[in-house]
Amino acid sequence: MWVNKLLFELCRLSDSLEGEDTFHQRRVCYIAYNIAKELGFDEFGLDLVIKSALLHDIGILTDESKVETFRNIIYEDYESLNRHAVISGRVARFLNMHLDVTLAINLHHTPHENNTSIIGNILFLADNVEIAYRSLTNPYAYDDLVEFLEQKKKLFDPNMFEALKNIARKECFWFSLLEDYIDDAICEILDRLPKEEVDNKLKTAVCYLISYMSDNIAPFYDKYTLFVKNIAVNLGYKLGLDTKVLHNAALLSHIGNLKIPYDTFKMPSLDEETYNVVKSHTFEGYHILKRMGFEKEAELVLLHHENNTKEGYPCKVKPEKEAAALALATIVAAIMQDRPYRVARSDDKIREGLKNFKDIDLFDSEVINAMLEIDLEKVRKTEDEYYTAVKKLFI
Ligand SMILES: [Fe+2]
Ligand SMILES: [Fe+2]
Ligand SMILES: [Fe+2]
Repeated sequence: MWVNKLLFELCRLSDSLEGEDTFHQRRVCYIAYNIAKELGFDEFGLDLVIKSALLHDIGILTDESKVETFRNIIYEDYESLNRHAVISGRVARFLNMHLDVTLAINLHHTPHENNTSIIGNILFLADNVEIAYRSLTNPYAYDDLVEFLEQKKKLFDPNMFEALKNIARKECFWFSLLEDYIDDAICEILDRLPKEEVDNKLKTAVCYLISYMSDNIAPFYDKYTLFVKNIAVNLGYKLGLDTKVLHNAALLSHIGNLKIPYDTFKMPSLDEETYNVVKSHTFEGYHILKRMGFEKEAELVLLHHENNTKEGYPCKVKPEKEAAALALATIVAAIMQDRPYRVARSDDKIREGLKNFKDIDLFDSEVINAMLEIDLEKVRKTEDEYYTAVKKLFI
């Protein structure tokens, strides 16, 4: 897996939280890249533009604001827009991006007059183009769009605005922004740029970011995947399993929930149709993680609601030891917490439940025995500096 492809998948995910795809960051990415190319940027510069654009709004979408705020955004209110710009910049830093990327993201809502970053200026213009593009009732009325932007011309860098006008003459530029083509258009660009391998540092940062995002969709999920991780890694050590894969798979286990309307999780009971939507988090997670390059983790995440009765979901198969360890960890971590449809169970009740699991052979008995040895109080208290660091990004 290479870095830009991973960032593209992260962008695609944050563009489509709660299942509603805005395509915003991907379109901004395509527009920004073309402006930079028109301005004669070299490969290194283009690469920084791509990275900045793919991550530029990740802060607004991982903030408490989510899709609603994104929809109701007052575009000219630069003061309040700065908050998500700063948060997005912090996230980019957390993901070990170049300082120019962080700076550009910080300034992506700052008009030309006060914008000290060249890439920040490109993002500012591209962002304005995309917002105007989305308000068009006819996606081919781009002459109207350029005319509209002419009125705001003084907000933009004059050279960049000229570059945009040159690009805007080409129909293929506008066609590429259509929902059917935008992802292919970006993948073509990414293919032409250098392909740096994703290192472990970036992988870990992405896992923690996603863990925090998926724990943040409802208050009762606070630290949920962190608990899953603590339990799964403990089980891994006791059973001689691949703890590295279990560690990441646990943190990533509920990435699929990000594609489901968050209100769903707050309902005290679900009808069959809604329950099926909830069940899709396993399948959704599997596909996102495969595309991100987390192959082994994807396999475990797919099976984290399976058990020996073959009555789980979504594949109705008996899980192997590693998948069983993750599955049991997700159950135990969940019953340690309140949910809208039940209260948290005491540790004694959880132990009782585990013995019951053993009697009915719900999971491999070695996995259940290992689980019975784990001190849940310790799991609750474990500090995790990475998780704390991600949390701080959003304060
Ligand atoms: Fe923004
Ligand atoms: Fe934006
Ligand atoms: Fe789950």
